[in-house]
Amino acid sequence: MNLLLLLLLLPLLLFITTTTSTATIPPGSSLYASNTSQTWSSPNNAFFLGFTRVDPTSYVISISTATGVPIWTTVNRTTSAAVVDSGGVFQFLSNGNLRLVNGSGATVWTSNTAKLGVTSASLDDTGNLVLAANTFAVWSSFENPTDTLVPSQNLTVNQTLRSGVYSFQLLRDGNITLTWNNSVVYWKQGLSSLSASNVTSPTLRLQPNGILTLSDASSNGRSENVAFANDYDVEADVVRFMRLSSDGNLRIYSGGTTAMTWAALADQCQVYGYCGNMGICSYMESSSSPICKCPSLNFEAVDVNDRRKGCKRKVEVENCAGNVAMLELKQTKFFTFQEQQIVTIGITACRGNCLSSTSCFASTSLSDTNAWCYMKNTPDFVSGYQGPVLLSTSFLKVCGPVQPNPSPLEQSGGDKKCWKLRVWAGGVAGHYFGHGRFIGFVLVVLQ
Ligand SMILES: *[C@@H]1O[C@H](CO)[C@@H](O)[C@H](O)[C@H]1NC(C)=O
Ligand SMILES: *[C@@H]1O[C@H](CO)[C@@H](O)[C@H](O)[C@H]1NC(C)=O
Ligand SMILES: *[C@@H]1O[C@H](CO)[C@@H](O)[C@H](O)[C@H]1NC(C)=O
Ligand SMILES: *[C@@H]1O[C@H](CO)[C@@H](O)[C@H](O)[C@H]1NC(C)=O
Ligand SMILES: *[C@@H]1O[C@H](CO)[C@@H](O)[C@H](O)[C@H]1NC(C)=O
Ligand SMILES: *[C@@H]1O[C@H](CO)[C@@H](O)[C@H](O)[C@H]1NC(C)=O
Ligand SMILES: *[C@@H]1O[C@H](CO)[C@@H](O)[C@H](O)[C@H]1NC(C)=O
Ligand SMILES: *[C@@H]1O[C@H](CO)[C@@H](O)[C@H](O)[C@H]1NC(C)=O
Repeated sequence: MNLLLLLLLLPLLLFITTTTSTATIPPGSSLYASNTSQTWSSPNNAFFLGFTRVDPTSYVISISTATGVPIWTTVNRTTSAAVVDSGGVFQFLSNGNLRLVNGSGATVWTSNTAKLGVTSASLDDTGNLVLAANTFAVWSSFENPTDTLVPSQNLTVNQTLRSGVYSFQLLRDGNITLTWNNSVVYWKQGLSSLSASNVTSPTLRLQPNGILTLSDASSNGRSENVAFANDYDVEADVVRFMRLSSDGNLRIYSGGTTAMTWAALADQCQVYGYCGNMGICSYMESSSSPICKCPSLNFEAVDVNDRRKGCKRKVEVENCAGNVAMLELKQTKFFTFQEQQIVTIGITACRGNCLSSTSCFASTSLSDTNAWCYMKNTPDFVSGYQGPVLLSTSFLKVCGPVQPNPSPLEQSGGDKKCWKLRVWAGGVAGHYFGHGRFIGFVLVVLQ
């Protein structure tokens, strides 16, 4: 009788052992870049950890969804994924350390958890890779995020999503921000219903139903909705995720990167530095994808194969004393989110003062009722936006003669419907920037 019972239970026991062994990663295990089909999976197979080939000789290690969307990767000091060659190995060492080693033998990334009593590593069904000392979590991928947030993952004030030069952060007062180069905040959203002054340790979560919520220890379990995916509350058997992309925009997706359901900035050209230093962001008449170009023929692309790297002067201003001119850019603004030198003088003086100042390299005058002049001094970064709706003109110092770009009308005909649509989008954005805390680097057209 007992034997029969054991025989009946045996397949069940075997089943339990095999499923847990896929979730728990034994100390001393390794994954090899040379074999990308070898992975560590979560028990429900919704997530796996493994190498992905990014180009013929480079590999990255990442946690991905079953459909191959990466949600976490190793990032060391720089803000891009740690890359190894085909000899790369990802190891869970018996001392408790997780380590990514290059074929050359160099340690490219570590979890720095040696000697912390780590006894186990596991990838759970929510996509969290956890290193635990018995049952106490010492380190987890959720607490060390890269550029992505998934449901079940808590983002607190000490966790930053990063992608290249951009970062996304939850501030202590509950505001959320997008920042360029750790210095320029180009997007911010504050709280409305949770009293900001009462917030002590806020937590941001992407709910499985597609709503981004903020809760706080002081709010007795209440949470505030921060953003809604456009398919929120739709019963969908997809993994939603929020990602800060290398283009500086924060988006929510349903399932894969082709199903975008929310974006922090509807107008991509509003992302600071999208076109690099002295690059100008604009849209073609027939397309909603932004394009980057240089301010004039006095400039050239830093990298012709990557227009987002910005522009540089063909001749530096220091090398043309006596021949310095101001390039006039109509319907163009330069974003200045930082405090700038502001004076209330007219547009002509604003242009002239910059031209005659050795430190000024760009100037602008914002003139509704007052003539406000903004000066930008070197060294600084200029991020430009050009659009037919912008009633602004910007000036940049160049070596004469000024060689304007051929006008878009000369370059191409146009689809007037799309043109109007874009005008409207720019108008909304302009309104937001005009009335928010942010100050646009704007000049009124000199008619
Ligand atoms: C790659 O890994 C898979 C899964 O562990 C294994 O079945 C396969 O034999 C490995 N291939 C090589 C060439 O080692
Ligand atoms: C990895 O090793 C290759 C040579 O095998 C080397 O070119 C590369 O720079 C190394 N990468 C890192 C991050 O150490
Ligand atoms: C970053 O990489 C270096 C080796 O290049 C390694 O010594 C260091 O521990 C790594 N830092 C982290 C936090 O992984
Ligand atoms: C996220 O926060 C909630 C509430 O504070 C907590 O119950 C949960 O365990 C946290 N999740 C993770 C993965 O830390
Ligand atoms: C954030 O880090 C600071 C200092 O490192 C620490 O005092 C604080 O408790 C942390 N906050 C959270 C919510 O983890
Ligand atoms: C980013 O900031 C650092 C200083 O923190 C500065 O040295 C660097 O030039 C900045 N990058 C750009 C592209 O301006
Ligand atoms: C947070 O947002 C609120 C409301 O939008 C604003 O008043 C406050 O100044 C913001 N805090 C910070 C640190 O920017
Ligand atoms: C914030 O704190 C004040 C004073 O403690 C309290 O009266 C108020 O109800 C709190 N607000 C919220 C939204 O919890």
